[in-house]
Amino acid sequence: MSVNLSKDCAEDILREMTVEEKAALITGGLPYGTAANERLGIPNALLNDSMAGINFRQLFADYCAMETGENILVSLRRCEKILQQLRETHEIHPEELDDTAMVAYEAIKKHLNGNVEQTYQVTSFPAGNLLGSTWNPQMVFRCAEALAREFDVFGVDVILTPNVNIQRDPLGGRLFESYSEDPYLTAELGAAFVRGIQETGILADPKHFAVNNHEKERKGINVHVQERALREIYFPGFEACVKQGGAKTFMSAYNKINGTACSANGELLTKLLREEWGFDGIVISDWGGVYDSVEAIKAGNDLEMPQIDNRSEVLKALKDCRLSMEELDLTVLRILKCLKEMPCVKGHRYYEIDTQHSQEAAYRAIAEGIVLLKNQEQVLPLKIDASVNMVGEGVHTLLECGGGSAEVLRKRSESLYECMRAKAGVSAIENWEEIETSDADYVVLVGKSRGQEGVDRAAMLLDQEDQEFVVHTLKKAKEEGKKTILILNIAGPVDMREYEAYADAVLCVFIPGCQGNRALADVIYGDVNPSGKLAITFPKKYEDCPTFGNFPGYNASVWYGEGIYVGYRYYDTKQLEPAYPFGYGLSYTRFSIHDLKLEKNIFEEENIRFSVDVTNEGDRDGKEVIQVYIHQNRPFLQKPQKELKAFKKIEIPANETRTAFFELSPRQLASYDEKLQAFVTEPGIYTIQVGNSSRNIQVEAEIAFRCADPYGYGEQTRIATIWSDERCREIYRKYFEDKCSIDMYNDLLGYTPDYPVGKALRERIPAEAYASPREKDENISAFFDELARIDLGKLDF
Ligand code: BGC
Repeated sequence: MSVNLSKDCAEDILREMTVEEKAALITGGLPYGTAANERLGIPNALLNDSMAGINFRQLFADYCAMETGENILVSLRRCEKILQQLRETHEIHPEELDDTAMVAYEAIKKHLNGNVEQTYQVTSFPAGNLLGSTWNPQMVFRCAEALAREFDVFGVDVILTPNVNIQRDPLGGRLFESYSEDPYLTAELGAAFVRGIQETGILADPKHFAVNNHEKERKGINVHVQERALREIYFPGFEACVKQGGAKTFMSAYNKINGTACSANGELLTKLLREEWGFDGIVISDWGGVYDSVEAIKAGNDLEMPQIDNRSEVLKALKDCRLSMEELDLTVLRILKCLKEMPCVKGHRYYEIDTQHSQEAAYRAIAEGIVLLKNQEQVLPLKIDASVNMVGEGVHTLLECGGGSAEVLRKRSESLYECMRAKAGVSAIENWEEIETSDADYVVLVGKSRGQEGVDRAAMLLDQEDQEFVVHTLKKAKEEGKKTILILNIAGPVDMREYEAYADAVLCVFIPGCQGNRALADVIYGDVNPSGKLAITFPKKYEDCPTFGNFPGYNASVWYGEGIYVGYRYYDTKQLEPAYPFGYGLSYTRFSIHDLKLEKNIFEEENIRFSVDVTNEGDRDGKEVIQVYIHQNRPFLQKPQKELKAFKKIEIPANETRTAFFELSPRQLASYDEKLQAFVTEPGIYTIQVGNSSRNIQVEAEIAFRCADPYGYGEQTRIATIWSDERCREIYRKYFEDKCSIDMYNDLLGYTPDYPVGKALRERIPAEAYASPREKDENISAFFDELARIDLGKLDF
């Protein structure tokens, strides 16, 4: 009886499989896709990058390999010329292709049903750093949904995104792909992206799990990082992609964590991801990120990419009992089940690109993600008849996407110059290569900083030629009495000290995709009121960064010495003034946040509910991001000065007020305790701080939160703490005075004040003072029961 994956259940298919077939399924069968098995009705599934749009390099290589059966290198080589044509002319010219490339071209034509022109229609969507600054999960969802529809047209099954790695250091080469330095914001947006993709039936692939925060020595670098930092900073984005996003695949990272490669890390891929978070999809390795195929299977890495033939290795491991058939079957079954969820098996495809749908989603996200950093004397928005000189090459060619797997080859977009001219008319806009004598009152220029997979940025500056150009042009323009508008088109924060004073307005558009110019022109002329907020701090200078000295590591090791103090958690706690803080961004109107109303002042292990009123005090409609931070007064565990716990972006018409409601769970007050191996919420006084940036808290209120105290007096409390509290000494005397004098501990107090008091008591109180060991135990337990009831005053306002 013949089986087929589209109609039979995964278990039945598994039963039919030979061991060779199993071994073939767990590694890529294509450069960017899985292996097909005709006998069992298993098709190839195509995996493709990225959050910014379709990757033709990968797609064409797969189409080609599907026809020829050739390997990744040959397939990529056959596609090179076609990609070059696309890059240079935005079209494919088959008449200029040689025989080698023609094979690829024929394969592409076949897979696109002759409609090769379809490739010219694709959209490049905003990169993660732009999406991060929207602070709007709904916009992010829409972008992801529109993006996935385009992939669907090309037959893709899994999109290798979102990148929910934390923006640890401004120089990280792939910083532009990810959302934020903050785990909560990353989690909310990452999960929205996953939902948006999977809404279409295509699967998302959150990556790179985990702590893949820079490019240098990315394959195999050992990240030394505290468990607390993993739990509080680096994991929440991934956890949300599973729990809130329902992600069906996950990508393991290239690096090692505390000595173990992510792809061979059972703690990470099985214990945490599957057992703790409940993930039931497949883990796909990063390309070339498996260093031991058998270890990877055992750890829970299901699919090894790219296409390699490791059948003999797997078969040998089975023979040597390094791998059991149960272990192999578990992985194969997971892959089969996951394939059943993919469009290649399930069917349902979009047949045409809906350019308008895509571009609208991209445009709206960009319009919400552009950040107005500076607007001296309300130089923006420009009046439509203002005379403008647009200087330099950037106004013609914005950087629309980053380099590497997130590069999208598409036709040229309308430039900023063209978009502004279309709005203001030919007579209002001039354009010069360099700043020269011109009568225009305003100067607009673009400064770029590229981002590239595989290399970190060399300095926290604009690209060298732009740095010089921007400094020179801004200074010159100011000498001539012009108003200056600088657009930052950047992969990550830049040090602006050399030129910021000469810019009247600064707009940051990050890496926006093909709708960036249109959205920028609309912001410049005020058709869109900017509402983007920084999702990453702009430090004044690189040396201020928490990672300075610990980035990007050396000799295949990097130490995350800053621990949980990433981004504003560090700048705020250290009281270091940034250039532009986390959460910051101006508007053409003014908002005030007021009237923080708490449901009550004392909460007993329950959700904390409150509301604030937000007034648009200006005469222009606008959107504001209400940001809720929590500060704990006198915590037991060291904590950052404040942490983002909730946010809401709301639209408020001019001169109107809206109320924003919030609810925080006790878990949101918790921090991870490495000793207790758990997130713990302390009873105590917390300050709820609400503002429109991390450095502009407009209202705050204290609440008391009551719950069992994980840090009340107990056996583990340090002896010096107990001995310094007269109430404890009195209880000690009551229980043990006749057995062991309180002075018998002076040496411990002097030399090891951190000694756990329980241990001290058990060691020092003589057994002979009791009739039996049990009696001693009971006496000590009674002492601790009484100690635990001491009120530590944590709830005093
Ligand atoms: C990157 C991944 C990407 C993969 C496939 C790797 O080099 O790290 O992010 O998805 O290639 O293109």
